[in-house]
Amino acid sequence: MAIPSNINPEKVPQHVAIIMDGNGRWAKSHGHDRIYGHLSGVRSVRESLEAARELGVKYLTLYAFSTENWNRPKEEVEALMDLLVKTIVGEIDELDANGVRLDAIGDIEHLPESCKNELQGGIDRTKDNSEITLILALSYSSRWEIVEAIKRMMADGVKAEEVNDNLIATYLCTKNIPDPELMIRTSGEQRISNFLLWQLAYSELYFTETYWPEFRKADFFEAIAEFQGRERRFGKTSEQIILKDK
Ligand code: IPE
Ligand code: IPE
Ligand code: MG
Repeated sequence: MAIPSNINPEKVPQHVAIIMDGNGRWAKSHGHDRIYGHLSGVRSVRESLEAARELGVKYLTLYAFSTENWNRPKEEVEALMDLLVKTIVGEIDELDANGVRLDAIGDIEHLPESCKNELQGGIDRTKDNSEITLILALSYSSRWEIVEAIKRMMADGVKAEEVNDNLIATYLCTKNIPDPELMIRTSGEQRISNFLLWQLAYSELYFTETYWPEFRKADFFEAIAEFQGRERRFGKTSEQIILKDK
């Protein structure tokens, strides 16, 4: 699929973050169980990554499992962990061949051993790739991340007068990763669900009714095109922005 002509290749965001939502509802609406929805979502991951890579997006962050998702039924949690392992095993050769660097944010230590091992293996194997970084948010929540950051700052003896935006950013899981310019959420829900609260401060938010298992390359491109039509003012006036662009 060619890049649509309504996308300006000069104005592609560096970092896109996605809340992949609606697997369960999609499966139910097709007469399947929730797990089938999760399995079907893998294709959407592949397509989004491909679209992002073709556009030259440098970081793609996917919210795959939240801290709160541990409270789901045991069978669903196990199926999701199993899917994670199988997907990494099944996709890692192609990811590596395509220059994808795998990374993860979240409470990785608390993932089951097999997940941790496959994930770490994938991260190590692809660490020198530079086409695009695929960041999986796993056992992640933003409040957890911020609490951890504060604990480490205190343990390091950081003084009150040393605290500023930049310092805090270096204590987050996303240190060295630019903030997402665009955050996409599928399935019609319009909330953040504890995702990148700090990093999304000035991101453009894009909500689509499409359930994640139906999200395709064309949908990713559509989100980018809409993003490019937005005016990002960062607190300034529209006139100031237009002047700067000239
Ligand atoms: C997103 O789909 C996947 C995860 C949260 C792991 P859901 O499983 O939340 O599907 P819905 O929102 O219940 O339809
Ligand atoms: C957010 O989706 C988490 C992930 C996509 C991994 P949820 O389905 O868990 O969010 P809520 O509960 O609808 O807010
Ligand atoms: Mg959901």
